[in-house]
Amino acid sequence: MSKFKFLVSLATSALLFISCGEAEHSHDDMSHEKANEQAQIHSKEANIESALVILYPTEGSEANGQVTFTKMEDGRIKVNAEVYNLAPGKHGFHVHEFGDCSSPDGKSAGGHFFTDHDNHGALEDNMTHVGDLGNLEANAEGIAKVTFITDKLSLSGMNSIIGRGVIVHDGEDDTKTQPTGGAGARVACGVIGISK
Ligand code: CU
Ligand code: ZN
Repeated sequence: MSKFKFLVSLATSALLFISCGEAEHSHDDMSHEKANEQAQIHSKEANIESALVILYPTEGSEANGQVTFTKMEDGRIKVNAEVYNLAPGKHGFHVHEFGDCSSPDGKSAGGHFFTDHDNHGALEDNMTHVGDLGNLEANAEGIAKVTFITDKLSLSGMNSIIGRGVIVHDGEDDTKTQPTGGAGARVACGVIGISK
C-alpha cells in the first residue's frame, strides 16, 4: 500500500467513525422529537370535547340519524340522539367495538364495546359493557329523540369511544339477555368521529 493510499484509508476510517457518532446523535434527537410529537398527540386526544356519528341505514332499513357526544365540565358525557324512520317503540342502542359499517347487515361493527366488564346490562349499571346505552324510543312517526348524561363513556383513555361504532337495533334491548340484550337485527350503523 502506498503511503498516499494508506493516508486516504485512514482519513476515511476517521470520517466514518465521526459520521457514525453523529448519526447516533441525530438518532437520539429524532426519537426525542418523536416522543414530543406523541405527547402532543396524546394531549390532543385528552382534549377531545365532542364526537359525532352519522347513522346510515343497513340493508332493507330506512333508519337514519345522528348522535352527538359532548364532554361536560364534570367530565361526564352528554349524549344526544335523533333517529328517523324507525318502527314505533323501543330500539336497542349501543356503542359497538368496531367503527366498521361496511357489511350490509351492520355486523361488521362487532359486539358491544367493553373494557373491564363483559356483561350486558343497563345504561345505569356501570358493571356492564361500556357500550350499553339502553333503548331509543320512537314515536308514532318513527322518530326517536333522546338526551341523557352518562359517566360510562369517555372521549379519551381506556373507555374512549372515538373510532368505534354506534348501532340502532330493530328490537328492544331487555338489558338482561347475554351478550346483546336480544335487540335483534341492526337497522342503522355509524362511526364515532371527533367533531368541533
Ligand atoms: Cu347493539
Ligand atoms: Zn352489551
